Order: sequence, then C-alpha cells, then structure tokens
Amino acid sequence: NQDTTFKGKTVLITAGPTYEAIDPVRFIGNHSSGKMGFSLAEEAAKRGAKVILVSGPSSQQTHSQNIELHKVTSAKEMLDKVFQFYDNVDIAIASAAVADYAPKEVAKEKIKKNDDNLTIELVKNPDILKTMGEKKTHQFLVGFALETQNEEENAKGKLEKKNLDMIVLNSLRDTGAGFKNDTNKVRIFTKTERKEFELKSKDDVAKDILNFVEYQLLK
Ligand code: PMT
Repeated sequence: NQDTTFKGKTVLITAGPTYEAIDPVRFIGNHSSGKMGFSLAEEAAKRGAKVILVSGPSSQQTHSQNIELHKVTSAKEMLDKVFQFYDNVDIAIASAAVADYAPKEVAKEKIKKNDDNLTIELVKNPDILKTMGEKKTHQFLVGFALETQNEEENAKGKLEKKNLDMIVLNSLRDTGAGFKNDTNKVRIFTKTERKEFELKSKDDVAKDILNFVEYQLLK
C-alpha cells in the first residue's frame, strides 16, 4: 500500500551548506539555503516516517514533531553526525551541498590584511554520501547531483561511483532550479530508469522524490 510505505521507517536527510572555517570570522561556503532538504523532511514526516535531519547552517525551520533536527557547521561535523545514525536508518537522502574542500589550517586569529596576495591551501573533505554508499547494508540510498554541464552523464557517474539506488539531478542551467529558489526542476535516475519533472515548488518536488522512492521500495 503506497500510503503506508514510510510509516514506521526512519529516514535520514542531509540539508543545507557546510561552512569550512578559514579563521574566526571567515569561511568557505555555498548558496544552499536548506529549503530542498527541509521540504523533504516535512514530506517524509507527513507520510509517517521518523526523520533525522542533519543540516548545515540554514534559517529554515522544522514544523513536524516527527523531525529530529541536528545542526552542524562543517563537512566533518556532518559526517560524524550522519554516522551516529546511519546503521539504523531505512532510507537516506543526501540533499546537502557539502564543501568538497576545506582550508588545511584554520588560523587562530583573524587574518590581517597586508600588501601581499593571500594563498589558502585547501585539502579534500570526506565525501559523506560516498562513505554511506561504501557502508550500505540494507539502506535505500538517494543522492543529489548539482550540475552545470554534462548533467546526465555526471549524475549517472555519481549514481554508480557512490553506490546509490537513486539520484536526483538538478541543473543550474534550468531557470528556477537549484539553490535558494522556492522552486526546483529535477530529473530522477536509477540504474535502469529516467524520469523528468516540470519546474515546481520544492514542497512538490519533495513529493515527487518520495513517490519515486515509494515506487522503488514497492517494486
Ligand atoms: O538548499 P537549497 O537552497 O534548497 O538548494 C538545494 C540544492 C541545490 C543544494 C540541492 O537540490 C542539491 O542539489 N544538493 C546537492 C548539492 C551538491 O553538493 O551536489 P554534488 O553534485 O556536488 O554532490 C553529489 C552528492 O554527494 C550530493 O548528494 C551531496 O550531498 C553528496 N556529497 C558531496 C560532497 C561531499 N563531500 N559529501 C557529500 O555527501
């Protein structure tokens, strides 16, 4: 029964950006508002799931009692928080825009301006979703792909490389899609399927994504 697929299930969702500190006043971040992830969390909760929402800095708020919100700042903190819960979740959806790189060292004091240029060495952050894919046992794993070129090829590459069951592609080439907007336009892929959706509110995109998850779990 479609309506009960999420009842009693635990769903882990990552949302928002991560901030990687440069010094006590500056960071490397991105434009993610958290809207897409928070919409997914509300929709999963509405369908009867227990939701664990791990979010980077965001001004979004939760409304449902069934959502447990864990706020983090950096990718490393997000990784640690995700793996406190991962073993015991049924479905995981990674909608966070995690910084791929972080400053090698965080300056203890505010970096002072001088006459020279400034070089900051960046080191690779852990790939949270890829790690989830490597440690997957029973979880149904959904990733996102945010692309600006060769979108479908890149999304399918991520589906494969990160050992996902499903991937949601949004392209910055589509007007109204991606960061900050209240709307998004997505294409969903599994290893064998492709489905394209119209531009719609992030709340409605969340419904489409969870309907697709339900359909996969019921197959
Ligand atoms: O928050 P909003 O303003 O509503 O915007 C929504 C969104 C555009 C952020 C969202 O829809 C989205 O596309 N999220 C994924 C953004 C992203 O980082 O995509 P990516 O193609 O770089 O990463 C691929 C996947 O790996 C993503 O599921 C990402 O969460 C995950 N990842 C990436 C890097 C990393 N170090 N760890 C990860 O877990």
